[in-house]
Amino acid sequence: MSFTTNYLVPFLADNAFLLVITFLVMLLARHLLRSTTPPPPVATPGSNKNMRASKTDTERVEPEDDDNNEDEEDLLPPIWPDDLKQIPYIHTRLTVEESEKKSLQFYNQMNARRSVRFFSSDPVSRTVVENIIRTAGTGPSGAHTEPWTFVAVCDPDVKLQIRDIVEAEEEINYTKRMGKQWVADLKALKTTWVKEYLTEAPWVLLVFKQAYSTLPDGRKRTHYYHEISTALASGLLLAAIQYAGLVTLTSTPLNCGPALRSLLDRPQNEKLLLLLPLGYPSATATVPSLKRKPLEDIMVVV
Ligand SMILES: Cc1cc2nc3c(=O)[nH]c(=O)nc-3n(C[C@H](O)[C@H](O)[C@H](O)COP(=O)(O)O)c2cc1C
Repeated sequence: MSFTTNYLVPFLADNAFLLVITFLVMLLARHLLRSTTPPPPVATPGSNKNMRASKTDTERVEPEDDDNNEDEEDLLPPIWPDDLKQIPYIHTRLTVEESEKKSLQFYNQMNARRSVRFFSSDPVSRTVVENIIRTAGTGPSGAHTEPWTFVAVCDPDVKLQIRDIVEAEEEINYTKRMGKQWVADLKALKTTWVKEYLTEAPWVLLVFKQAYSTLPDGRKRTHYYHEISTALASGLLLAAIQYAGLVTLTSTPLNCGPALRSLLDRPQNEKLLLLLPLGYPSATATVPSLKRKPLEDIMVVV
């Protein structure tokens, strides 16, 4: 006779009712605990669902104006495989003197950059434009999603259509949408809704941010931090333009995004971030006499 038949089976038979009740109470307690405990503060960049659930998280992720259909129950395969190879990082170390000299040279070169509103029609080679955009494409991006498209327009007809769209919207912006304060602040910069440079400059670059990409099965993959990533790439673009001896004007044409996206046949996941004429300054170009903040006003050492 074993322990099971001697003791366990009779015990279970005598106390079956009690055991079932205990089990049910445990189930109920588990359910109640789950529904009253707040979810852990996990903030996944780009996931609005998680952002709502993590209000007390000190590293909360700000929402971006993207369409986010990510569903935690329907995870996409990771962008990169878990066994992604690690390779040696190639680095040439400069001496302190070299580093100080180069950083000063670069600062002087970047400090000479100005937003130019008067362009020459002198041509700029396609190779230069390609190298500038290659440089922008070296920027860092959330999870290396590279959420940007740079459209380089040199076709005079397309440039004219861009100008028509921008000027029509800008006239409404200046006269109706922008407040009096905004218009007054821009007066000294001599910016108006007339944008001759859009047809004068040999190239017009349009920077689009991609909110998401679409997988072959139609599901959408969120591009984390697509706006900040594209803005960083645009900073590199500006530096490359300056380094190549060319000029540009950073602009964000208000309310022109959808019309320009459709003119340039860009897909729905792309939104216009910046519009930049690219070329040489006209012989008589002037710029407002602006001063930059001194280092002590922009740097805090802790
Ligand atoms: C996001 C952004 C939008 C801008 N939009 C316009 C614009 O629509 N029109 C314009 O003439 N300048 C525009 N500018 C250029 C600024 O007026 C210019 O950068 C500023 O006056 C400083 O001059 P600087 O670029 O020569 O240093 C814009 C700049 C930025 C960063």
